[in-house]
Amino acid sequence: MSILVTGGAGYIGSHTCLELLNAGYKVVVVDNLNNSKVESLSRIKEITGKELSFYKVELLDKNEVERVFAENKIEAVVHFAGLKAVGESVRIPLYYYYNNIAGTLILCEIMNKFGIHKMVFSSSAAVYGEPQSVPISENVPLGPANPYGRTKLMIEEILQDLYISSPNWSIALLRYFNPIGAHPSGKIGEDPSGIPNNLMPYITQVAAGKLKELHIFGNDYPTSDGTGVRDYIHVVDIAKGHLKAVEKILTQTGVGAYNLGTGKGYSVLEMVNAFDRATGEKIPYKMVAPRPGDVASCYADPTKAIEELDWIAEKGMEEMCLDAWRWQKNNPNGNGD
Ligand code: NAD
Ligand code: UFG
Repeated sequence: MSILVTGGAGYIGSHTCLELLNAGYKVVVVDNLNNSKVESLSRIKEITGKELSFYKVELLDKNEVERVFAENKIEAVVHFAGLKAVGESVRIPLYYYYNNIAGTLILCEIMNKFGIHKMVFSSSAAVYGEPQSVPISENVPLGPANPYGRTKLMIEEILQDLYISSPNWSIALLRYFNPIGAHPSGKIGEDPSGIPNNLMPYITQVAAGKLKELHIFGNDYPTSDGTGVRDYIHVVDIAKGHLKAVEKILTQTGVGAYNLGTGKGYSVLEMVNAFDRATGEKIPYKMVAPRPGDVASCYADPTKAIEELDWIAEKGMEEMCLDAWRWQKNNPNGNGD
């Protein structure tokens, strides 16, 4: 029996495939390579010494997805495939709604057809929108602030309805906070196309001399130093959270949402200083206007995942910075090298 990983060639998917293989699972990856390269899968094989199956398949192509299920004995699905850029989702919302939601509907329909009812879904802290207070627990009212976050909330609701319709479904909704870093081998990591939107890849590209300086979006937030606070979590910890969630859905039915975060918030300036301390690289920066749509402070209460998934984030900020920097230095052109 295999675990089907949609979006398995991407950033979090590739780290999760690696952990699944190391834990002894067989892995089948489906990805259209829209935001990733097949090279990441070769690197996984190199690190683990294990094989995985890959289908370059578009999730919106029902016949092709069905073929993957027909050709493999799938036990459960870890569903990463989706578009994830917040700003782009505001500019071209239909593309986001169509890709993320229709892709999930097709996947669920085919799972139903093949009698497979176990899924781990990549949700996001984006479902919370502007938090009323921090840390954020899973049971607060949800209110995503952009189309990307709304696709995640709508998919969560669709999956809840599936469970109501048929209680043999078993679904874990994992709400990630801010995944950063890379595998300690330096062979797989985040490979953003163009100028990065996110803080850590921007910092590593400044350190590498690819970008001139970091622009810090806002220094007048109600936080300890005025810059935005987030819950940065090592991508390997996130991947291990999926392993725990897979174990849970294989043994129990039900649907549950879990925050995957460390529970600690770091400001942008604290991140810049942590990167400097860990790597010895000074990051030049300048303060600029706040980025529209950003919230002051967002970090998780991870208690539910600790108690119900038996999972806890283990890696600290120094490791996150060192691993992100090793990946950048070893792969100046990402997976294109
Ligand atoms: P990523 O872009 O690196 O990986 C997503 C993968 O899905 C890519 O390889 C892409 O080619 C593939 N894909 C997208 N649409 C597809 C389709 N229609 N058919 C087949 N393949 C398709 O992104 P990531 O950072 O690894 O994120 C994985 C998931 O986690 C996404 O659903 C994302 O929304 C969610 N998430 C990410 C973050 C983050 O900060 N990285 C935070 C919260 C949630
Ligand atoms: N920031 C800068 N300069 C930059 C980039 C970011 O100052 O060049 C700041 C932001 O203003 C924010 C912090 O760094 O205060 C983190 O920003 P990111 O873009 O790295 O992350 P976000 O918290 O904005 O968003 C991330 C994902 C979203 C997801 C959200 C919640 O990119 O997809 O976490 O999970 F929805």
